[in-house]
Amino acid sequence: MSRYEKERNFLKSNFLEFKHIKTDKIKGLPKPPNTKAFDSSSTIIDLPKVSKDVVSRDSLYDSISERRSTRFYSDESLSLEELSYLLWATQGITDTTKNGLTLRTVPCSGATHTLETYLFIMRVDGIQAGVYRYLPVEHKLLYLFELDEIDQKIDAITLDQPFVPNFAKKAAVMFAWSTIPYRSEWKYDISAHKKILIDVGHVSQNLYLTSESIGAGACAIGIYDQQLIDEVLGLDGEEEFVIFLGAVGKKKTVVGTD
Ligand SMILES: Cc1cc2nc3c(=O)[nH]c(=O)nc-3n(C[C@H](O)[C@H](O)[C@H](O)COP(=O)(O)O)c2cc1C
Repeated sequence: MSRYEKERNFLKSNFLEFKHIKTDKIKGLPKPPNTKAFDSSSTIIDLPKVSKDVVSRDSLYDSISERRSTRFYSDESLSLEELSYLLWATQGITDTTKNGLTLRTVPCSGATHTLETYLFIMRVDGIQAGVYRYLPVEHKLLYLFELDEIDQKIDAITLDQPFVPNFAKKAAVMFAWSTIPYRSEWKYDISAHKKILIDVGHVSQNLYLTSESIGAGACAIGIYDQQLIDEVLGLDGEEEFVIFLGAVGKKKTVVGTD
């Protein structure tokens, strides 16, 4: 067995094996909810209606051709309109199927949408710094908690960054995407997990391109402390855990390169 056999096999399609499995869906087990529940008496923040007005670079071609991972941010805040746009572009709901599945701005295997979006907000106009969760159905923000020394926590979470040390804590917002894998396992069983990772890649690319379109920049972050971020967000690490991060901020004139 080669040293990487297990990991390489994870990258391959296991559809033929999957075809013989009696999934929880086929067994008639209840379908898991599309989104995570929340207490409606919590602090909930209305997001402005998504509008093209926030877009300063209205050319997809330019956003694609000039996109770079941005790790140097100015002190400028994002506006709430801009944050609303980024959230819509990464997880916003644009339609619902007759079976009650949500269709969003990003494609997703079988429209299972296992992701939840958490935000570490440092600088967004009109929003108290702290930790929030996006409510895609309502297009609102759920305030979760204030985080003491939020920048130090982000630093600890994002470990030893190889290109620009400690950059994430200087972002205006750090997105953290968790997965609730059972939303896909119910339907795809052992085929769910590779799909979930591909799904989050699509989300991250939308964050990159829409950040470019508002004069901001994003950087995907795969190097992070799994246990620490799950603990900070109160996730159990089994039924829900973080799988990817993305830092966003207005660009500083000095552009970071690898
Ligand atoms: C899956 C993934 C994980 C990444 N993780 C990190 C990271 O932890 N830290 C970082 O600074 N950049 C990270 N990046 C950004 C890459 O380093 C960057 O995309 C690559 O160097 C190419 O540069 P470009 O995005 O500017 O074209 C990641 C990108 C991807 C797609």
